[in-house]
Amino acid sequence: MQIRERLRNLGYDTLLRVETKGIVQTNIPDGCHAASADYAIVSAVLDDLDLRPDDVLVDIGCGKGRVICLAARRRLARVIGIDLSPEIVAVAAENVLRLRGARSPVDVVVADAVTYDYSDVTCAYLFNPFEHFVLDRVLAKIEADRAGAPFRCAFVNLSDVQRETFEQHDWLRLTEERVLGGLSVARYEART
Ligand SMILES: C[S@@+](CC[C@H](N)C(=O)[O-])C[C@H]1O[C@@H](n2cnc3c(N)ncnc32)[C@H](O)[C@@H]1O
Repeated sequence: MQIRERLRNLGYDTLLRVETKGIVQTNIPDGCHAASADYAIVSAVLDDLDLRPDDVLVDIGCGKGRVICLAARRRLARVIGIDLSPEIVAVAAENVLRLRGARSPVDVVVADAVTYDYSDVTCAYLFNPFEHFVLDRVLAKIEADRAGAPFRCAFVNLSDVQRETFEQHDWLRLTEERVLGGLSVARYEART
């Protein structure tokens, strides 16, 4: 990462009164380490999701909570961070407590994305949290829990194999794909 981006991210952390920088190894089988995209990218992706005050947004694999903290500064029904690592969730929860400028309620929970109950979730953010076969199970769980209700999600750092996984879930349609800061970002929406 360029020094300029690093400094900008540090500036945002300071502004929000949180600490979300760095990479943390999690040792989760089939899961990714905890790391965040640049604040500028997270902010643009949240814009792409067209968030509304009645939305319940979940960051699936929330890491230290950069996304949920930024999202909580918007007016939403609820922001939820789930992560399989209790240590990481503890860091995210501390960040949420310290967060300056929160306008929405936030929950942070230790949970496996494969078994989490998505019944109330209208929107999801994923930053490449796990292998494609885990993604496949998570998408199947969301489809079952939402049972035809509206749902949209953004996936940051999409690889070809993950794109193919999404394509196998024809209850979702790709509504946008673009490259932000070198990362492929895709937005999907449930077919109505
Ligand atoms: C690349 S980090 C993304 C962090 C955060 N979303 C962000 O953008 O700042 C991926 C996170 O997914 C979590 N994770 C991996 N497998 C998971 C699973 N099955 N259920 C919940 N969280 C998981 C990891 O612990 C890690 O913190």
